[in-house]
Amino acid sequence: MRTAGLRILPDLEAVSREAAKRFAVAAGRAARARGRFTVALCGGFTPLALYRLLAASPLREILPWDRTQVFFGDERCVPPEDPASNYGAVRALLLSRVPIPPGNIHRMRGEEDPARAAAAYEAELRAAFGLKAGGVPRFDLILLGLGEDGHTASLFPGSPALRETDRLVAAPFVERLSAYRLTLTLPVLNAAREVLVLVAGGEKAAVLREALEGPGGPEPLPIQQVKPREGSVTYLVDAAAAARLLRPARPSPSPA
Ligand code: 6PG
Repeated sequence: MRTAGLRILPDLEAVSREAAKRFAVAAGRAARARGRFTVALCGGFTPLALYRLLAASPLREILPWDRTQVFFGDERCVPPEDPASNYGAVRALLLSRVPIPPGNIHRMRGEEDPARAAAAYEAELRAAFGLKAGGVPRFDLILLGLGEDGHTASLFPGSPALRETDRLVAAPFVERLSAYRLTLTLPVLNAAREVLVLVAGGEKAAVLREALEGPGGPEPLPIQQVKPREGSVTYLVDAAAAARLLRPARPSPSPA
């Protein structure tokens, strides 16, 4: 994998616009090359403005929703109606507002027993990607966030799920949350064509510096283990999150 790319933008709005632009480029490229666009969305607060942009003109009209397959990088173990549900937030802000066929939406069933939900999602991935046993889905795009402890998706520091090499989906119990989560595993994240990591806010400055400039050993942060073998990782960060980087790229003006 090439080293991670870094774009520093003035604020979250500019990060969201840049992410929307890259989302659209990836979607168009995949639809032309392979007849469909496969994307895994992330949860949390950071991507919400991006989801609003994707659901608004002009992207609502431009994107190939009929050929877009939407998956999720992780999910909380709650029903879709729960305010904590990643799917619930994406449905409200994006999926209910664009002409995507319902069959193209693949949510993790957070309301079910975690282990069963993980197995079911793995089966859904295998079917959707036409995978044989041992195959790994190659997403055109995976969106990720970054937690203050360096977690991404629901891969938390010290989690056994980080050592998963066979399963595509895990259901780790997250001690610090006292809750189960559902998450794609590193083999899936590292098979992606493109990964965008969205980071914003001064509270992420320390972890972003560790992620991009830290030694990465002996126990690398989960985000540091996202290194697609044949793909790219690009961090789209705002100036506040980049404030403690020692080797920042030039802050880039947001596109007009
Ligand atoms: C989740 C996310 C998680 C998130 C980070 C950052 O389900 O919460 O997948 O990995 O991306 O915790 O969250 P914020 O964007 O809210 O800071």
